[in-house]
Amino acid sequence: MEWYPLTDSWCIAKYTTNDTQLMNNILYACDVLDNCKMIQQGGSCFIPDILLNHASVVMNEYYAKKGRNPWNCYFSDSGLISNTEPSYGSCKYA
Ligand SMILES: *[C@@H]1O[C@H](CO)[C@@H](O)[C@H](O)[C@H]1NC(C)=O
Repeated sequence: MEWYPLTDSWCIAKYTTNDTQLMNNILYACDVLDNCKMIQQGGSCFIPDILLNHASVVMNEYYAKKGRNPWNCYFSDSGLISNTEPSYGSCKYA
């Protein structure tokens, strides 16, 4: 069976994910991404300054960069594919 990437889909962190896992996801995604300035102080997605938000933003950046395949939003079963765009205010999800 052939897989077609899910257009109009976004990757977010499951809200039940603990902080250790969220931090691991951030470190992992930001290592692959060119930069994670959007979740740093002064960045477009810094606020709300909570790990769940920061992790979701960079997990989605990773997901988008890798081709929006389900396995790009796995993150040890802490990722969730959403069909609703999570963008808010200045924070634009890719
Ligand atoms: C956090 O979640 C991960 C993955 O489910 C688990 O392996 C780990 O033990 C948890 N850590 C804490 C501190 O609860």
